[in-house]
Amino acid sequence: MKAIVIDRFGGPEELVLREIEKPVPGPDEVLVRNLYVGVGKPDFVMRSGICPFLEKEPPNLVVGNECCGIVEAVGDEVKGISPGMQVGVNSGLGYGAYAEYIAVPQKFVTVFPDSFPIRYAACFLNYMVAYALLNEVGRGTDGRTLYMKSASGGIGTAVIQTALLQGMQVAASASTDEKCEYLRSLGAQCVFNYTKEDEKAAVLAFTKGQGADLILDQMAGPDFKKQFEYLADFGMIVLYNWLDGDPGLDQLGTIIGRSSHAQAVRSFSFHVYDSKPERLANIRKICMDRLTDGSLKPVFQQELPLEEARKAHELLDNHQVLGKIILYV
Ligand SMILES: NC(=O)c1ccc[n+]([C@@H]2O[C@H](COP(=O)([O-])OP(=O)(O)OC[C@H]3O[C@@H](n4cnc5c(N)ncnc54)[C@H](OP(=O)(O)O)[C@@H]3O)[C@@H](O)[C@H]2O)c1
Repeated sequence: MKAIVIDRFGGPEELVLREIEKPVPGPDEVLVRNLYVGVGKPDFVMRSGICPFLEKEPPNLVVGNECCGIVEAVGDEVKGISPGMQVGVNSGLGYGAYAEYIAVPQKFVTVFPDSFPIRYAACFLNYMVAYALLNEVGRGTDGRTLYMKSASGGIGTAVIQTALLQGMQVAASASTDEKCEYLRSLGAQCVFNYTKEDEKAAVLAFTKGQGADLILDQMAGPDFKKQFEYLADFGMIVLYNWLDGDPGLDQLGTIIGRSSHAQAVRSFSFHVYDSKPERLANIRKICMDRLTDGSLKPVFQQELPLEEARKAHELLDNHQVLGKIILYV
């Protein structure tokens, strides 16, 4: 079968199209013939070698974390999934999706009804992450206002749509005017280019001086601490990646120093649900219902053939993502 593999960790140039052996499902595994593959930042994390969860190493390692298609075969121990069903895979393993076929443990497979547009399944994880961030990870705040920086990608789009659907007031920013236009088109009430406008001033103006109840931060890094200045009382900063590295401060000391504001910081990986299948099933159901009834509608930036995975990664690495990129197989 065709697959996109890496022989060593590195940049997009390491992605190579190769014929490899079609996988055979184990007793607890489902073999899926992929139709679409979702491309997202977690794939960059895997490709570049900084993924803390990866159980396999290159060479000949198939890239990719999310895909969807039709079940071709199932192992003897698999229950409730049979050939012909349309399914989505969040491999959870962090690899294996950029291929014509994937074999994964049943727990990573979501069955979608025949009426569900299968392309949506390639970005289903974004909506589950968005739901989790807003409703499970970020709970305990007043929950009225959200600020998200660099929000034009797949996760950002899903978060904005979900937050608006749930009645939150949304401030979002990005690094270019084109991305800001895109964020406005999603309905965010406050949009600004963070390379031109001061984040603190913009968020405080939007929240009438109160600060945002929830700040979703994928950067961390040296500027992390500044966010407390535009975080509301009882507010929370949720860290869901560390693109700018360690914030280099005593977080507990910082929070204790601001105890008169009762603020919190929480760090999050979706892997928390690996051991919580019932909780995950609840999130799956809510997101599936919302995508099925049209209250949430994925925005696809580009559909490229699997063979052009390298181009998709160049868009990722060059911060050129508006919505979701998918590959068709
Ligand atoms: N914790 C979890 O479980 C979980 C699960 C899924 C995804 N994530 C994280 O969620 C984030 C968004 O994922 P995504 O797939 O939506 O990503 P994406 O589509 O690539 O969007 C990320 C945005 O981040 C900004 N950015 C800032 N520094 C960057 C850098 N060094 N390289 C590339 N982009 C950079 C860019 O926007 P600007 O140019 O506007 O700044 C870019 O558009 C990622 O950090 C990902 O790792 C976390």
